[in-house]
Amino acid sequence: MCGIVGYVGFRKAAEVLLDGLRRVEYRGYDSAGLAVRTEKGLEIVKEVGKVSDLEQVARGRNLTGCQGIGHTRWATHGGVTVTNAHPHADGAGRFALVHNGIIENYLDLQEELHAKGVCFFSQTDTEVIVQLLAHLRAETDDMPTALTLLQQRLNGSFALAIIDAQEPECFYCVRRGSPLVLGLGVEECFCASDVSALLPYTKNVVYLEEGDTARVCTKGVEIWNECGEEVCRDVAIVDWDVSMSEKDGYPHYMLKEINEQGAVFRSTLKGRITEGRIDLSNDLDWDASKINSWKNVHIVACGTSYYASLVAQRALEQWTDCHIVVDVASEYRYRRMKADPSTLAVFVSQSGETADTLAAQRKARSEGAHCLAITNVRGSTLAREVHDVLLLKAGPEIGVAATKTFMGQMVALYLLALFLGEARRTLSAAEAKRLAEELLHLPYKVEIVLNRQDAIKEIARKYAEKRNFLYLGRGNTYPVALEGALKLKEISYIHAEAYAAGEMKHGPIALLEPDVPVLVIVPRNSLYEKTLSNIQEAKARHSAIIAVGTDGDALLPHHVEDILWIPWTDEEFVPFLAVVPLQLFAYHAAVLRGCEIDQPRNLAKSVTVE
Ligand code: F6R
Repeated sequence: MCGIVGYVGFRKAAEVLLDGLRRVEYRGYDSAGLAVRTEKGLEIVKEVGKVSDLEQVARGRNLTGCQGIGHTRWATHGGVTVTNAHPHADGAGRFALVHNGIIENYLDLQEELHAKGVCFFSQTDTEVIVQLLAHLRAETDDMPTALTLLQQRLNGSFALAIIDAQEPECFYCVRRGSPLVLGLGVEECFCASDVSALLPYTKNVVYLEEGDTARVCTKGVEIWNECGEEVCRDVAIVDWDVSMSEKDGYPHYMLKEINEQGAVFRSTLKGRITEGRIDLSNDLDWDASKINSWKNVHIVACGTSYYASLVAQRALEQWTDCHIVVDVASEYRYRRMKADPSTLAVFVSQSGETADTLAAQRKARSEGAHCLAITNVRGSTLAREVHDVLLLKAGPEIGVAATKTFMGQMVALYLLALFLGEARRTLSAAEAKRLAEELLHLPYKVEIVLNRQDAIKEIARKYAEKRNFLYLGRGNTYPVALEGALKLKEISYIHAEAYAAGEMKHGPIALLEPDVPVLVIVPRNSLYEKTLSNIQEAKARHSAIIAVGTDGDALLPHHVEDILWIPWTDEEFVPFLAVVPLQLFAYHAAVLRGCEIDQPRNLAKSVTVE
């Protein structure tokens, strides 16, 4: 929540910072600011609104320096005002600082500094950090020492970028609990909350470890660990390129990302199915005795990633003999759930930075579980903390509403389920081969649905002005109903509730009236007739029914008003196809309502605070 960028080199810093802020803007977008070191000293520019609003103001200031830091904010402490926007400066104007995270003990520190005569101008927890730093720096010989002491005084999570007016050749970074990556160029260096801001400039990056402090200069970086000892960190090469984070002619990132789903499916499968067998040997070094030692599989995630996990739960229950538990991370971390060495604990997170998912992982690991991350971000905190990683290979996802990574997560989780089933011999080799072959066909079927966008848009047009929706699904399409309803809520602000279709009679049916459409996922599967009965119950209350139905189902048009058609696939794989029309339905409804698609109100892409 909040994006950070920093630059030192030969380019005009303000331009690099504004470009970087646009690329991390999905992390927070209520206000933005930057600080550049010019011949006049530190010049700070802040504005409420988007990075484009900041750009207008910055352009009028003609900031010429080659060293600076920038920030895009998602407010936690203090309202959305210019004063509360970052960067924040100390009283003397020597330091400017940007922060992503939360300082839990800021009130105590504020009181302590007040007693020393420090005045505060904002309502943020961040201003406390820069004022405290100014004091600590005055009492120490050098900045790395002051920053080590600063870390010791702060409780909470933070990624910081700081410039000191007295050090013209560098800026500093500190990381604990919030992501921060350094970019190494030729005669220039960068920092950012994630690599997408660095892609136009360099692919050589250093992921800071917990507690690291870095001095970032034109010639390179020096790093100290939390004890203040100088350390060496590996340079990683990013395998994303800049075109992956561009809109590519689409009006919105979300639409681009929905349309990429066939390709994401293929790239997540690539190299993981050989001769009809699931082969995860390049990712997971698991032998038979390890795999057979697990009796339980816990899958833990938040939001859309949780819904992908619920889909996978059904597949794992079917193909393995393990006891499968799926939970949201914010619950799991506080439950007395036993995660001992007989547990494979799987943490599903697009960003790999979600605070609750990270905390849940640390808990499971401390109890002895074997921890696997399923994530899209190679150097993320989650990926670095777990025993094993299965990457999604979806490319950067910029739209705040997750779409293509939901697809990638389901693919990775299904690969895992098939792999475990075959290794534990709960799934025959022949059946595993048949299922793997259908997995290979699915990207084409996803693309068939994507080619039906005009029809989906027309149906969205009919319902875009409704205020409430009910979504229903059964079995593995129930989590798809949850995900479809979440997409509609997030980007169109239409209220939508999702239920397991069989639950409708137990309460939600009271909501039904002619103006509340019901969207039902009703593929030709073993639960088809049961779901048709639920449709009758809704129709009897005069609700309009929109169905997701299987091509060739001649019965369905007699029962419903509108149909979002999907090709036939095995029952197990319906979620991969059924989610696509729901994403497009939400997208087009939101566009027709004039909503902000890629940056919906109140949301931020990575929830890095609890
Ligand atoms: C919804 C959405 C969120 C995320 C959730 C978890 O469109 O994007 O619900 O799925 O915040 O994020 P990750 O997967 O990064 O842990």
